[in-house]
Amino acid sequence: MRAFEIVSHEFLAPGVFRLALYAPLVASHAKTGQFVVLIPVATGERIPLTINRADPERGLITVVYQVVGKTTHLLSTMKVGEALFSVLGPLGRPSHIEKTEKTVVLVSGGLGAAIILPEMYAFRSVGTPVVSVIGARTESLLLFRDEFERYSDRVLIATNDGSCGVKGFVTDALAEYLASESSQVAFVKAIGPNRMMEAVSKLASSYGIPTYVSLTSIMVDGTGMCGSCRVSIHGEIKHVCVDGPEFLADGIDFQELEHRNARFQRLEKEAFASCGCHPERR
Ligand SMILES: Cc1cc2nc3c(=O)[nH]c(=O)nc-3n(C[C@H](O)[C@H](O)[C@H](O)COP(=O)(O)OP(=O)(O)OC[C@H]3O[C@@H](n4cnc5c(N)ncnc54)[C@H](O)[C@@H]3O)c2cc1C
Ligand code: FES
Repeated sequence: MRAFEIVSHEFLAPGVFRLALYAPLVASHAKTGQFVVLIPVATGERIPLTINRADPERGLITVVYQVVGKTTHLLSTMKVGEALFSVLGPLGRPSHIEKTEKTVVLVSGGLGAAIILPEMYAFRSVGTPVVSVIGARTESLLLFRDEFERYSDRVLIATNDGSCGVKGFVTDALAEYLASESSQVAFVKAIGPNRMMEAVSKLASSYGIPTYVSLTSIMVDGTGMCGSCRVSIHGEIKHVCVDGPEFLADGIDFQELEHRNARFQRLEKEAFASCGCHPERR
């Protein structure tokens, strides 16, 4: 098999795909929470994606991604048997996984479910009790619901339209849970949009519970050299690619992070609008 050859590429939900590719060195070194930087074609851009699953025996890694712009769109058009131009990784520090008697609450919104899933397996494997809180706009968009129900001790669901679980946001479901069970919680992990992670950490800290979050700042090299992914934590500069992507939420300047993530928005929109059919791939 060729390096970075695509071995499977599945549609999971509108705009969401799971891609497995041959990358034996990455697969044999990957740990929970680490990511890769992919370049789909030689003239393409670099994008960071979390390693959803690593299979060292077959030399495969799996990523789950959502089409949001030019490069994720290009990736979605690639077929089994084609090879990506480059896959760099595993990058970043592994996530904090610990055996605790108390419960770990994993909160994810939308695509965050795909990123938090490996953490659920990891906590389960060390024997830590897990409560998962998952959310989406509507029931049909809940990702990996069966997996969460199979491997978590309890699953709480929130949908914006009330089609399943609590009507509202994951923070509403979490608030209900913490109101009665906060003394049983060791810590919370939240993965999703910045605003959601900030709201979860504020809620948990009102009970004195720490929250870990996984940050998705815009990255270029992914190795600590360009400064693109920097974030302020208690006024100190950290680089998400080498110091993270997971951090304790306390002290993160989420507003600055939002602002920095929006800095290429006009160019990104223009690039996406012009990429209906990528010229490289005709
Ligand atoms: C460590 C890390 C792990 C990630 N893991 C995953 C994953 O497993 N699955 C997945 O679908 N996505 C993941 N992302 C986000 C993913 O890298 C971006 O969605 C991707 O780079 C967008 O590229 P694009 O060219 O398609 O869109 P662009 O044209 O670059 O951007 C389109 C829109 O997405 C926003 N955006 C772009 N890059 C990011 C980013 N890094 N973080 C937040 N918003 C961004 C832009 O502001 C813009 O609004 C991760 C990001 C990081 C930093
Ligand atoms: S992506 Fe360049 S320093 Fe982190």
